[in-house]
Amino acid sequence: MKIVYVGSDHAGYGLKELIKPYVIGLGYKVEDSGCFSEESCDYPNFAQNVCRNVLNNDDSLGILICGTGIGMSMAANRFKGIRAALCANEYQARMSRAHNDANVLCLGSRVIGQDLALSIIQVWLESEFEGGRHQRRVNIIESF
Ligand code: RB5
Repeated sequence: MKIVYVGSDHAGYGLKELIKPYVIGLGYKVEDSGCFSEESCDYPNFAQNVCRNVLNNDDSLGILICGTGIGMSMAANRFKGIRAALCANEYQARMSRAHNDANVLCLGSRVIGQDLALSIIQVWLESEFEGGRHQRRVNIIESF
């Protein structure tokens, strides 16, 4: 069963808790990389937890949530091999998998509503990388 590592800071904690049963319902194993309360904390630490787990486990994906999704995406994309996509709609979610082979989805809990977040997650998890010319472009990113 494919593992989805989820992580958030305090701003994303509520949405993280909401999405966990939803992701399980879609047929994935969910591993929570923190945080574990709404107490103020630092988003890069949880980006690091999720990214290291994704890089250490083939065929796994990650979901990171902070207030805007921006800090999480900045932090996640510092890890070689992580392609983190900040998505605010289903089109970005589908294309980030199809064209960019994104392995981490970033969401802003203060930007999008809960129903939209769930819809984005479903589309993202169910979309597949198209390869071909997109693989060549991903290879260039990975060569940096
Ligand atoms: C926390 O207040 C907020 O800065 C954080 O969740 C995130 O939006 C950072 O990018």
